[in-house]
Amino acid sequence: MVGTHKLSDVFFVSSNIHKFKEAKEILDSFGLSIQFFKLNLEEIQSNSIKQIAIKKAQDAFSKCKKPLIVEDDGIFIDSLGGFPGPYSSYVQKTIGNKGILNLLKYNRGAKFVSTITYCDKNGLESFEGKLDGTISKSQKGKGWGYDPIFIPKNMQKTFAQLDEKNIISHRYKALKKFSNWYLHK
Ligand code: IMP
Repeated sequence: MVGTHKLSDVFFVSSNIHKFKEAKEILDSFGLSIQFFKLNLEEIQSNSIKQIAIKKAQDAFSKCKKPLIVEDDGIFIDSLGGFPGPYSSYVQKTIGNKGILNLLKYNRGAKFVSTITYCDKNGLESFEGKLDGTISKSQKGKGWGYDPIFIPKNMQKTFAQLDEKNIISHRYKALKKFSNWYLHK
């Protein structure tokens, strides 16, 4: 039988407590439990968030030497050719949500993408979750990162205003794929 017990030896390695809290709530709902391992990971420059997540996982494993997961995300805005994508963290720290809103006019389509990479001594496995949506006209709600400006498809509210973020998000979708794989491996 697999349950909370099995995954409790797996670390979620990140410097971002928001990601961990959400990942924990999501994995708890699948009966899996993870622990936080706070670490600033080396982040390579790449156009692929999967490649970034793989490198982060290798870096994390060389330091923590335990089964672990890392996550890399990006928000991809249609009218900006997918910008900021893999540079989402840097863009959030520099121009922020205000700067993004100033760049957009009519086409407000966007998507969030999450890559979860699991690593242990036997190797790596990656899982992707995507969520389509739009960028709001102004910031709404008090969330972290892009939450106040991202409205998931078929919704009226931003991630920051929605109670159900953790059952629809890009992170939820990637972690669901990971859990299905992990529980059957
Ligand atoms: P990275 O995965 O650490 O490179 O960062 C991606 C960036 O995207 C984060 O620093 C956040 O600014 C943003 N981000 C990723 N997921 C979310 C989310 O669920 N809500 C809001 N912002 C997010």
